[in-house]
This record gives sequence, C-alpha cells and structure tokens, in this order.
Amino acid sequence: MSYTVAKGNQMVDPDDVAPADGVVDLRSDTVTRPSEEMRRAMAAAAVGDDVYGEDPTVNLLQKRAAEMFGKEAALFVPTGCMGNLICIKIWTHHGSEVICEERSHVNLYELASMSAIAGCMPRATRGGDDGILTWKQIEAVVRPKIYYDSQTALVCLENTSNMTGGTVYPTERVNDICDHAHALGLKVHLDGARIFNAAVALGDDVARMTQKVDSVMFCLSKGLGAPVGSMIAGSKEFIERARIYRKMFGGGMRQVGVLAAAGMIALEKSPSRLHEDHENASRLAQGIAAIPGLQIDPASVKSNIVIFDCTGSGMNAVELCDALHGKGVWAQDTALYSVRMVTHWNVNRAGIEKALVELQSVAGKKVGRSA
Ligand SMILES: Cc1ncc(COP(=O)(O)O)c(C=O)c1O
Repeated sequence: MSYTVAKGNQMVDPDDVAPADGVVDLRSDTVTRPSEEMRRAMAAAAVGDDVYGEDPTVNLLQKRAAEMFGKEAALFVPTGCMGNLICIKIWTHHGSEVICEERSHVNLYELASMSAIAGCMPRATRGGDDGILTWKQIEAVVRPKIYYDSQTALVCLENTSNMTGGTVYPTERVNDICDHAHALGLKVHLDGARIFNAAVALGDDVARMTQKVDSVMFCLSKGLGAPVGSMIAGSKEFIERARIYRKMFGGGMRQVGVLAAAGMIALEKSPSRLHEDHENASRLAQGIAAIPGLQIDPASVKSNIVIFDCTGSGMNAVELCDALHGKGVWAQDTALYSVRMVTHWNVNRAGIEKALVELQSVAGKKVGRSA
C-alpha cells in the first residue's frame, strides 16, 4: 500500500515539488521559505548541545518566548504536532477525555496521537460555523464525576481556528472558558499555531490573550516564516515535565541553535508584517466572492486563511485545484467542495491578483459551459 504526501492534486513527483518561479503557492503558510536574514543568522548561530541545555541560541529563544507570552518558561519543539501532544500528555491520564472542536487540528490532523500515544479520547464538539467554542458548548460535553464514566481532563482550543477559515477567539471568550474549566478542575491547552495572526486580528497582545490558559503551543514555521520549529509555554514546572516528554517522543535535538536562530528572527520581526497577509486574504476573499460559481462571505475572513465553496463551479475541489495547479496557482482542497488558500509572506499582492485571474478563468469557464 502506498501513501500520498497530500490529498488530490498535491501528490507530486519528488523532482517536481519546489514551486517554479512565478508559482503562487497558497496551499498553506507552512510553505514559507526562510528569509535571507534568517539564513545568515542560521549560518552564524552560536550552538551547543541542547539536550544538555547548553545551546545558547535555543536558551535565548526560549527566554524571549516566555517573556512575550508572560509565562514562566518556554520550550523549543520540532513541530506543532509534537508540541500539542506533549501538552496533552502532561494534562491527562490514559483514559481521559479531551474536549476539542470537531474540526480542530488535534482532532483531525495529528494522526490520533492523543489516543495512540497519550491514551486519551477526543470528545469532539461543534462550535458553530466559525468553529469558536463557547463555555456552554463545552460544558454540555464535560463528563459527570461518576466512576464508570471516563473523565474529562482537558479542554483544547485552537486560535486561529484553521479549518473554519482562520477564525479568532475573542480574549474574553478564552478567559471565560478558562475560568469555568478551572472551576471544574479541568486544564486548558491552547493550540496557538497561528496565535500571532489572532493577535493581529484582535489588535491584542499574546500575553494578554493567553494569560489564563495552562499551556500554549505556537508555530514559528507558519506565518512567522521560520523553516522549522514551534514553542510551548507555561509554568516552570510544566516546562520541566515537557522537556522529559519531548525527549521521550524523540524531539531532543542537539546543536539546534541553527534553527532557533531563524526562530528568533521569526518571533521578533514577523508579527509586525502579518497584517499584510490579512489584507491580502481579505482582497482574495472579495475577489472570489465576485466569481460566478464560487462562494464565500468576505466578512468571515478574519486572518490569513480563505476557505471557499466551489459547488456552483461545476467542479469539485480536487478538480478545481488541479485546474489551478496547471496555471501556476496552488490551492488545497479541504473537503469535497471546499478549497483553502492561505496568504503568507512569499505571496505578494500581485500573486493574489494572479490567483484571482486564474480562478476566474478556471471556475468561470466551467460555469459558462454548464449554463
Ligand atoms: C492549527 C494547527 N495546529 C497544529 C499544527 C501542527 O503543526 P506542525 O505542522 O508544525 O506539526 C498545524 C499545522 O498546520 C495547525 O494548522
């Protein structure tokens, strides 16, 4: 049996994976390439053995991340998935339940690691069209404290919420959920893979936004543009435990300052330009809304993720993405008739306009033919 590296048209020949010049790659903000400044910093990074805690660049990055999030400590981890898993593992026992949104990354795209490795059941619930949970929705699925029921241990939130189009948790909502969860003895973990996008959308500060959560994971390798790496932050004691699980899960790296150096630039410099990605996403959504056969409410786009429906185009999402791919615009099918485009620093406004022209030519043509 063989596996594809991605769904649909994104399964590519290994010799053909890098986008050629002029390709507008909107599949995800994970495709960003490190800037020249990052590459220079990586080459010049002071390094040591991080398993011994001796890598000065990693230590600096961890200190800075903790400061920015107003937490006692932070830890560099290879990936967002590992970061989430470490946090889930720490806050739960085998047999615990984890409440999360139905379309959340921890529920759908982390290979059931919370079950396979942490031994937990996801208790997935639906947070309305925007995927943003309320305490009421969470409370409805908290298990009663009866010995023959598996017990809820953790609530996992995702901000921004990827698969519902980069929607954003208002800070008061996060605080309200934390207050209620804590009153019941539950912990709250935040998958903040794109927390800086959420901060830009809210005009808020990440420390304030995450003040009450017990742990937060965020990615350096998405909109912030670093090639590799995520961070988790929390109390000192929590991070000491996290270091142990990181090693157990195979994530103890050695002279990893070469990566942390890029991460440092991502953390310090990238947040201040994310508004450009949001403006591009907004322009993209407005353009898509004007194309016959494609459907999106531009007002629903709050950050850098644009998800639209292509039911009326006469093509399903894979067919549409295939047709676009042939024209140098790469998008991601996310459901049968749902396509995602994510803006990031390697696509400028001209790229967005090109994407719209090609979408119009591809979707418009089919609609014209079938009409
Ligand atoms: C919301 C969210 N959480 C977690 C992750 C996992 O990050 P990584 O790909 O670094 O494992 C992703 C990746 O796309 C994501 O979108």
